Amino acid sequence: MRELKIFSGQANRKLAKDICAHLHLPLGEISLGKFKDGENYCKIEEDIRGRDIFLIQPTCPPVNDNLMELLIMIDSCKRASAERITIVIPYFGYARQDRKDEGRVPITAKLVANLITRAGADRVLTMDLHSPQIQGFFDVPVDNMFAAPVLNDYVIGLSTQEEERVVVSPDVGSIKRALWHAKRLGGQLAIVDKRRDSPTETRQENIIGGPIAGKVALMFDDMISTGGSICGAALKVHAEGAKMIYVAATHGVLCGDAVKKLSEAPITAVVITDTIPLPPEKLAQCPKIIVRSVAPMLAEAIKRIHHDQSISMMFEKTEE
Ligand code: R5P
Repeated sequence: MRELKIFSGQANRKLAKDICAHLHLPLGEISLGKFKDGENYCKIEEDIRGRDIFLIQPTCPPVNDNLMELLIMIDSCKRASAERITIVIPYFGYARQDRKDEGRVPITAKLVANLITRAGADRVLTMDLHSPQIQGFFDVPVDNMFAAPVLNDYVIGLSTQEEERVVVSPDVGSIKRALWHAKRLGGQLAIVDKRRDSPTETRQENIIGGPIAGKVALMFDDMISTGGSICGAALKVHAEGAKMIYVAATHGVLCGDAVKKLSEAPITAVVITDTIPLPPEKLAQCPKIIVRSVAPMLAEAIKRIHHDQSISMMFEKTEE
């Protein structure tokens, strides 16, 4: 069988090392950096001819640098005669630009998918895409994994009873996700009516469903970026009388003053995964942030892809 080799870009080397530790494999030797004029460089420092290559690189901030680095890593592997190149993008940046919702705007998620496939990626392994339809933007196979079991494990570990729980969807787009969690964790469903005033500003108008008063609210989202959506929803749920609020999200983008917002919001704890690295100083600023690793799950998926085994068998159906 073709030898499996894993290389990491600079976006999340800790996650890549943890994945390799689970697979009992060394992380491949690669030189990455920038020339004085800001252009990226890459050199694969070992023979990869005919090998089954996995490149780990979430396209998190700095998004354009990480994306460009990924593209030149793919190109390096292609030109070095790798047999197959699977890119592991635990977090796919630009995913929220996935439709033309007004005139004269791009569909950047599609453009990025084109760049990745044109560069030479043969497969994509990713996690909790902002919308599952993005899989169709790639003309190569995409495995979209779900961090839901890792996030649910955290909630199950809390000492709350099913009847005290209410699963709150922070917006209409997350209803299916909330329903999936409610089915497994118990509790009623509530939906926050989020309105978007501009690309960066949202406001929370009403709550549909519930009841909320006296309950432990569990809010699930795919990502926390500026923190505006989740903190706005938490304030609304708090005002409705929730006694505790837990937030769980796969991708902790945490840009701008998101960490400060989370610290100040009426949230008991925030659980995120390590798809995006969280600098220790940010973590120290907000002890209520808990990080759970998806490295074991990604390691298992890499092993299965390498051995041509099913990925979907790893999961229960995530949509009802
Ligand atoms: C919205 O559709 C997403 O699921 C997230 O709720 C949102 O993008 C998070 O962004 P922010 O933290 O900036 O509100």
